[in-house]
Amino acid sequence: MIEFKTFSNGFPYIEVTNSVASAKIALHGAHVFEYKKEGKSELLWLSSLALFEENKPIRGGIPICWPWFGPHSDSALPQHGFARISRFTFVSCDEKDEATSIVTLKLTDSPKTRIVWDFSFELLVTITISKKLHVSLKTTNTDIKEFKITQALHSYLSVENISDVEVFGVKNCTYFDQLSKTMEVQKDDLHINQEIDRIYTHLNKNIILKEKNRAIFLQNSNSNSLVIWNPWSEKAKFIKDMQDYEYKNMLCIESANVLDDYKILQPNCSITLGLKLSYISY
Ligand code: BG6
Repeated sequence: MIEFKTFSNGFPYIEVTNSVASAKIALHGAHVFEYKKEGKSELLWLSSLALFEENKPIRGGIPICWPWFGPHSDSALPQHGFARISRFTFVSCDEKDEATSIVTLKLTDSPKTRIVWDFSFELLVTITISKKLHVSLKTTNTDIKEFKITQALHSYLSVENISDVEVFGVKNCTYFDQLSKTMEVQKDDLHINQEIDRIYTHLNKNIILKEKNRAIFLQNSNSNSLVIWNPWSEKAKFIKDMQDYEYKNMLCIESANVLDDYKILQPNCSITLGLKLSYISY
């Protein structure tokens, strides 16, 4: 079942429920902000202070960073691009069977996007709500000239206690530490006990996030870079749309195309970045 709903301020979202899972998706940013498999706890983290307002990113869920990741060289332009602060158009919802719902949303260039990024494009976001949550981000160059993008599916995963989290799949990988601005090598599986902001490079492996009572499996497609971010206690104080203590309950693991994993698209060409998230039972 799919329902079109609004918050009290008129902010629109789509609620999807089927026999195995449920999800909420904002038209703003094509942003999945809740996903839960039947009988399991919420997979995505959402800030208790998240803003559901036009032109503001939502803190939590899966923001889409596109057509650039991180800050732009022109500091007047929005961090992580404009997709996450743009209103998408609803294309379709296909209820394939009673356990699989597929929602498709679209963003194309407009006078507003042309001011910040002067290209013609189509961005198609397909969200499959089933036993797994699958988000795919298809960029098509509808211009007559090539363009370059960096991008990320910036998933905020909910965790019971960040100090108990282990991340498998990054051992022996090289990363750019965005805090020290140095290249480093990950010697062991990852445990987090302080602020982290890293871009793992040349990494195309699947990732497992394990906690005491559950584990989450992340499968990437067309991504050779992965961002891992947690602001920890000090930085969290400066983030207005999250509570100081909420860093304990989240970890961002982002399937990306960043640094030298950027993509150049020729006219009429497409590329699809994908992320599948699922619970592992144990
Ligand atoms: C991460 C970046 O992807 O997003 C961090 O690596 C950044 O550097 C974080 O702080 C959050 O960004 P924002 O714009 O949503 O506050």
